[in-house]
Amino acid sequence: MIDLHGHYLPGLDDGPADLATAVAMCRLAAEDGCGTVVVTPHLRRDEWPEVSPARIAAAVAALQAAVGPAPQLLAGAEIRVDSELLADLDAPGKLLPLGGSRALLLELDPWGLGPDPVELARELRLAGWIPVVAHPEHTPFLGEEAGLVERIVEAGARLQVTAASLLGEAGRWARERARELVDAGLATLVASDAHGVDWRPPGLARARAEVARAGGEERAVQLFDEAPAALLAAPAPPLGGAA
Ligand SMILES: [Fe+2]
Repeated sequence: MIDLHGHYLPGLDDGPADLATAVAMCRLAAEDGCGTVVVTPHLRRDEWPEVSPARIAAAVAALQAAVGPAPQLLAGAEIRVDSELLADLDAPGKLLPLGGSRALLLELDPWGLGPDPVELARELRLAGWIPVVAHPEHTPFLGEEAGLVERIVEAGARLQVTAASLLGEAGRWARERARELVDAGLATLVASDAHGVDWRPPGLARARAEVARAGGEERAVQLFDEAPAALLAAPAPPLGGAA
């Protein structure tokens, strides 16, 4: 399996506080069956202004050295959507896609502040990117307007549902919404959004088993293996106008 969303880097955001915990998280992910983990610290959040693509890349290399070969770690970010996001597509060093691909993991404002998500998805697709909306089941405004999620998907965005939501570990509302998105075929992939060893730990296997039980093995393969692999395989367009 591939985990496309997790806060595995030590001391950068609200993920693990130290290297030992970060290493332990990586080991848990590997034991759970994740061969590849894209580490995605919060980027463009006011709480952690010092997080940058360059700092993430350096921290990923250091963590991989400490962990050893498995799991394979790739650099990414959970990019907070704000009014400057589209302008920064052309600014060198400001954005970081998932593992060098054309997929950008986006954290929408929970209350819908910032750019219209349908327009944003359209603009990003036109610019050659694939927007991946992180945990729509935890983004309240997406549930308030009928048909909004469908329009975002029609505009070209992908939806990442969180494993803990499917298992009911993030509340009843999140579970119901996550299962609706999976059942309706709107969810593209499932990721852990791991933050620690005890609180929000890594691991996809239990959610994968639940999806396979409810929707069949083929659906589980799609959400946990094929869809994330396909996203990582799409090479990124040039960032910041670089060749
Ligand atoms: Fe996250």
